[in-house]
Amino acid sequence: MQHQLCLVIGDPIEHSLSPLIHNAGYGALEIQDRFRFEKERVEIKDLPEAVERFRASMYRGISCTLPHKIEVIPFLDEVDETAGKIGAVNTIVNDEGILKGYNTDWHGILNPLQEVTELAGKKVAILGAGGAARSAVYACLQGKAIVTIFNRTPEKAEVLSQEFECSSASLDDSTHLADYDVIINTTSVGMTPHMEDSPIAKESMRVGQIVFDIVYNPYETKLLQDAKKQGATVIHGTEMFIHQAAAQFELYTGEKAPVEVMRKTLLEHFNIA
Ligand code: ATR
Repeated sequence: MQHQLCLVIGDPIEHSLSPLIHNAGYGALEIQDRFRFEKERVEIKDLPEAVERFRASMYRGISCTLPHKIEVIPFLDEVDETAGKIGAVNTIVNDEGILKGYNTDWHGILNPLQEVTELAGKKVAILGAGGAARSAVYACLQGKAIVTIFNRTPEKAEVLSQEFECSSASLDDSTHLADYDVIINTTSVGMTPHMEDSPIAKESMRVGQIVFDIVYNPYETKLLQDAKKQGATVIHGTEMFIHQAAAQFELYTGEKAPVEVMRKTLLEHFNIA
């Protein structure tokens, strides 16, 4: 039987771990004879040609990472309503040549949070106001949380908060973060090679709080190390990666994603547990 091909496109792409965990999922469900997941570097200038090639070659799924999540939208036949609200597509399903865009990044925020707390009515602080923050804000509002966006450039937080009808503040005012039930970092602060950096002071965190960092390289950021020292519950960025991939897996294959196998594969790759 011919494989249905899926792939992740981005630039750079060589370090993408999407093929690793999607293919592990196919193996776990014994559908590796039907599906295969690859990666391909696509430069932004080549995006229109690449999308048409994947459409014509009947690629089943096209996962998009930076810098293609917004730029790909004009080349699609349809965009699902949620992806439209978030303003970014990370998942494209090819149904016999019709390309429909989705966003699963918000599942990567909401699902791990819902595993540890009931979000409704909780005060959530989102750090950052870029593309990743948009998915986080959408996810938390879906979970009926009370959201405040904190950003280094407060004007950007203000614009985003008006669009999503929530509150905003400057990251400089983050001394009040201990008042929040949940803190989600969507900035790149703390990412390799700047592993000594954290977007907020350790004293901003406390027992009973949940701190989620979407940065997953390194596995445990300075922010999460500090959060643990303060007695907070932490959620690693790997959880976002796993859950956004699991939702993609379901859209591409129609099968329930084997989340545990995907998690184990990813953590083994990081030499964790
Ligand atoms: P992404 O799409 O990954 O979210 P982005 O759109 O470039 O990336 O957004 C990056 C976010 O990280 C922004 O909110 C940015 O703050 P500014 O709007 O003030 O630029 C934030 N960010 C990046 N580096 C930062 C730093 N050193 N300190 C605080 N915030 C930072």
